[in-house]
Amino acid sequence: MSEPAYHPGLEGVIAGETAISTIAGGSGLRYRGYAIEDLAREASFEEVAYLILHGELPAAAALKDFCSRLAAAAPLQGEVLDFMRSVPRDTPIMDFLRTAASALAHFDAEAVDTNSEAQLRKAERLLAQFPTVLAAQRRIQQGKEPINPDPQKSFAANLLWMLRGEEPSPQLERAMDVSLTLYAEHEFNASTFAARVITSTLSDLHSSIAGAIGALKGPLHGGANERVMEVLQEVGTAENAEPWIRQALAEKRRIMGFGHRVYKEGDPRARFLKPLCQELAVETGHEEMENMAEVIERIVVEEKGLPPNLDWPSARLYHYMGLDVTIYTPLFVVSRVTGWAAHVIEQMENNRLIRPRSRYIGPEPRPWTPIAAR
Ligand code: SDX
Repeated sequence: MSEPAYHPGLEGVIAGETAISTIAGGSGLRYRGYAIEDLAREASFEEVAYLILHGELPAAAALKDFCSRLAAAAPLQGEVLDFMRSVPRDTPIMDFLRTAASALAHFDAEAVDTNSEAQLRKAERLLAQFPTVLAAQRRIQQGKEPINPDPQKSFAANLLWMLRGEEPSPQLERAMDVSLTLYAEHEFNASTFAARVITSTLSDLHSSIAGAIGALKGPLHGGANERVMEVLQEVGTAENAEPWIRQALAEKRRIMGFGHRVYKEGDPRARFLKPLCQELAVETGHEEMENMAEVIERIVVEEKGLPPNLDWPSARLYHYMGLDVTIYTPLFVVSRVTGWAAHVIEQMENNRLIRPRSRYIGPEPRPWTPIAAR
């Protein structure tokens, strides 16, 4: 029998089937059949999260009930907050969220239930809890008291409220809402695939989400949006942008926020977010950074043929919103938990253990060597 083909990084390999999203033809992105541009422009993140988890856009009554369930699940039990206060304050928030995914399981009565109804209830609870956990931990790290979630606010407004303690402007609420929609789901990306591998052993949802967070943290994946801001802060001024990027390319550095395993003609999410970024830059007085980014983007595309991915504009958007760079990838978690959970449920409903083969490149067969002879 001929040896199976080997695809480094599983590039181009179809590793499973999904009805949740598709990067159609490597250029367009659809969630459950709806174009990402339509969803980002017309729908709230709550509608999009419902669509990803339940498979259909909600009618008004269903959306109202969904939002009520999220609001009811958002406050954290006292024991969880006590645990959060015990964690060293300099713990990176992505590391903390990985721990929180496990800790929240200990307070979830359905943690071990893997039937679809229980999985969906747990998914909604995690979607509701992660914003509260993120905001509370950030404020504890700042020596401030956590702010309770406000059930009257939208998901995006509540997240900003709990983070900053200020009523967000309609512009900031809209910007956050769109970013959450764009980050929510993306087919078999590394963190989603990690969640599916864990689920395929019939393990539980919280274990799969903890593993996904670990995968998302890496700078080749979700961690890139924080690295993008570090790059922009290193460049400093628009006039320094061209010399900086030409030097970085000459040194063959990876430019965070550019390139993608699937999108070779550009990331539609980055294209959608760019004008929103430009508007917010003007509203918040960040034109210099926007001009700097434009110079870098033009040169990377010209010299490397690498268009920006979503992390390139999203980092600036969060910066213009006054958010600290240490919560950029955690914001990705707050949104992507919807996609991860939907994939966990889908994997469990039609499961086959994910167990690929490997190509052996180790030593040839050899005889035992007693220690005296080594
Ligand atoms: C996300 O998969 C998803 O869907 C992920 C995501 C999602 O929503 O879940 O879209 C979110 O993770 C977006 C990507 C965020 N990561 C970054 O921005 C990090 C920088 N980008 C790269 O590291 C890279 O583009 C990847 C990891 C995203 C994709 O890399 P591939 O497909 O493995 O491509 P590669 O590493 O094999 O590179 C091919 C060539 C190489 O040149 P050669 O060595 O062949 O000469 O392109 C070069 C690379 O050096 N290259 C880059 C580059 N990306 C690729 N060179 C400079 N800067 C870059 N960013």
